[in-house]
Amino acid sequence: MKIGAALHYTPLDRAARWFGRFLPKGLYARALIIIIAPVILLQSVVAYVFMERHYELVTRRLSSAVTADIAALIQIYESYPQDRNASTLARIASESLQLDMDILHNADLPPPGPKPFFSILDETLSNELRRQIDRPYWLDTVGRSNFVEVRIKLDQDTVMRVLARRSQAYASNSHIFLVWMGGSSFVLLGIAILFLRNQIRPILRLAEAAEALGKGREIDFRPRGAREVRQAGYAFIEMKRRIERNLEQRTTMLNGVSHDLRTILTRFTLSLALMPATPEIEDLKRDVDEMSRMLEGYLAFARGAGDDAGEQAGEADLRQLLEEVQSDAERQGHVTGLDIVGDPIIIVRPDAFRRLLFNLVSNAARHGKRIEISANHETRWLVLHVDDDGPGIPEGQREEVFKPFVRLDEARNQDKGGSGLGLSIARDIARAHGGDITLSESPLGGLRATVRLPA
Ligand SMILES: Nc1ncnc2c1ncn2[C@@H]1O[C@H](COP(=O)(O)OP(=O)(O)OP(=O)(O)O)[C@@H](O)[C@H]1O
Ligand SMILES: [Mg+2]
Repeated sequence: MKIGAALHYTPLDRAARWFGRFLPKGLYARALIIIIAPVILLQSVVAYVFMERHYELVTRRLSSAVTADIAALIQIYESYPQDRNASTLARIASESLQLDMDILHNADLPPPGPKPFFSILDETLSNELRRQIDRPYWLDTVGRSNFVEVRIKLDQDTVMRVLARRSQAYASNSHIFLVWMGGSSFVLLGIAILFLRNQIRPILRLAEAAEALGKGREIDFRPRGAREVRQAGYAFIEMKRRIERNLEQRTTMLNGVSHDLRTILTRFTLSLALMPATPEIEDLKRDVDEMSRMLEGYLAFARGAGDDAGEQAGEADLRQLLEEVQSDAERQGHVTGLDIVGDPIIIVRPDAFRRLLFNLVSNAARHGKRIEISANHETRWLVLHVDDDGPGIPEGQREEVFKPFVRLDEARNQDKGGSGLGLSIARDIARAHGGDITLSESPLGGLRATVRLPA
């Protein structure tokens, strides 16, 4: 992506990116959000509408009914002043209207109490009292939890006090609604978690199988889960079979070709050995030797190096492998050093990995005198350096030499044999393991080849 492109984001893009940063990265969490967010939104809207409408309406009706009862009580009380203590009236109120009523003589309204900040009850009841009775009143909806107290001033020194059950005036069981809402959300969340876990596991398995195929490890994979995921799984298995069939055919063909050519070359060598050792014959022998060496190189390359005819990955001892190549190089008169840090047990395809090592070390041996090998396997990654004190490779050509058949030695006029395939094969192997090889300058003055593999 061009750097300048960043300037052309629309505000919407930017908002989406900003938002995306806060979104969880995993499919599991994202899917959960996709399911849960609309539910929460819907429930909030429903709750709001319910509170606003239904709940307010019910409260108003209930308040209105209680207020009407109180108004009736006041009228009866005033029509029959002979019952000064209103004992009959109080009995009727408590038996038929479920209101606790008494008359306070020589009393005045208490000072207004604290208003609840957010109470529909207080507000609707006040409205109803004003509308239906229209006398000075005092209201306590905060105090005693289950009751609402109303006092109405009847005349100079008479006050009627009424205690109504809160539920009589107020749609108070609505918290049940909230409990139901919260409860059902939790149940839904639980189901979503269970369900999603089972949906996402097959996707993870598929990813694991694909990764294992890349690294040449065999794992048991059977498509499961939703139809689309299963379809992807079957497509993957089909692809894997095709790849394996291809490899098999290629291996068979290569084995045939190399067997036939080797037979002929061996016949050549034998015939030449029987001939008198004239300079021409010696030349021919050298040519035949070179030919078989090149044939081996081409075949190794064509075999696809990395898959090594379907070689399985397994545990290998890095120390043992490196000591092998080290002693090889020492036998050829090179000064070598070896340094291993971390776990020496690695998981690789042993033959392919040995070839990779051999190619790098033989390059170092061909160009330098001193060879240093250092490996670090402290993390999941194995990092391996092969250093030499040769001429190195100029920076501009360090990618070039990975191409098959590219040799700098010819251009340098120092033909030391070789087909220019060593590095391509080595890189193929590294990549087939899920890693790579890079070249840089060595502290020894020559070339440093660095291998990074998950192992
Ligand atoms: N350690 C090194 N120091 C200097 N040059 C190197 C080194 N390793 C490789 N090269 C250069 O990179 C070229 C490509 O290397 P590569 O290993 O692919 O082929 P080769 O060594 O020429 O042949 P082969 O490895 O197939 O026998 C070499 O021809 C050489 O010029
Ligand atoms: Mg080489």
